[in-house]
Amino acid sequence: MQQVGLRASIFFQSVMLAGCALWLFSKPAAAQQVVGGVDARAEDWPGIASLQSIQGSGLYHECGATMISDTWALTAAHCVETARVEAVGRAVQYVPDADGNLVRFGPIILVIGLGDLRRMAAGSVFPVSRIVVHPDYQSGRPEAGNDIALLRIAGTWAGPVATLEAVPDAGEDDDAFYVAGYGNTEEDGPGERAVSRTGRHLSAPRMRLQEGRVPAVSGAACKAQIAHLISDYGLEEAYGDVTIHPATQICAGDGFIDSCQGDSGGPLVRYGSTGQPVQVGIVSWGLGCGRAESPGIYTRIAAFTGWIRGTVVAEATAPPP
Ligand code: ARG
Repeated sequence: MQQVGLRASIFFQSVMLAGCALWLFSKPAAAQQVVGGVDARAEDWPGIASLQSIQGSGLYHECGATMISDTWALTAAHCVETARVEAVGRAVQYVPDADGNLVRFGPIILVIGLGDLRRMAAGSVFPVSRIVVHPDYQSGRPEAGNDIALLRIAGTWAGPVATLEAVPDAGEDDDAFYVAGYGNTEEDGPGERAVSRTGRHLSAPRMRLQEGRVPAVSGAACKAQIAHLISDYGLEEAYGDVTIHPATQICAGDGFIDSCQGDSGGPLVRYGSTGQPVQVGIVSWGLGCGRAESPGIYTRIAAFTGWIRGTVVAEATAPPP
């Protein structure tokens, strides 16, 4: 039974947005944050954002993201892989139904810079006008890597933005990383509901931004741990070919504090010599949350800075749609 539950939870956490929105369908009173963390201040997380979809009078938190400029946000590919930009130039979330057919869910917004999602206000909410998923991302398979996407907002964000790690592997093994998000604080967390100031119903795993310290796990140890868990849990069929690629992925977490469902797309940071946070990773996947010898897996940003810059530049010089 345990195994079935785990299988299902892995399915939901790894199958893209389905990991989040479909899960919302099946358990409407809940959504899947950082396990073992503490309340965080938005000021400590420059550019922190909640990716939400609007349906009727409801707002549904699906993933984390970070603003990296006044118009561009970074998130995980699996958060937006089935979304489409409609003719009016607005991104809309689609989720698979029971038969796997994609069904229109609702427009995507980014809600930026909040320590508490209930405080949503003008100036913190933006529609999304463009989605660029990494070309090497394999649909429905965040664990295969390249789990990174860029979102352009309609409008201009006036607040702080995240600073990205540019040079790979700056002494990572001794590094402590920190992760933040509005995701679940336990593996099968019940989720929270609230009414926003504008009278919309808001669903999120957690309304209060959480943060936690996650020690780096070396690529070799991570590879071994993930291989061990896959066989331990009997997941060879679906995950037999899954392995860690340290050049493009970071592993972090010692089994107590971890990211979890709903944190995907959000930031993993280290503190630079000036004491400022530098974003090194994007929450991507994990087997369960906060389990022993089961680190969280993050997209390594330094491996993708060329792609990020190139995409943003290409978009800036492209003629308007
Ligand atoms: N895929 C999850 C999401 O969509 C993130 C899971 C992270 N899991 C972990 N154990 N660190 O929100």
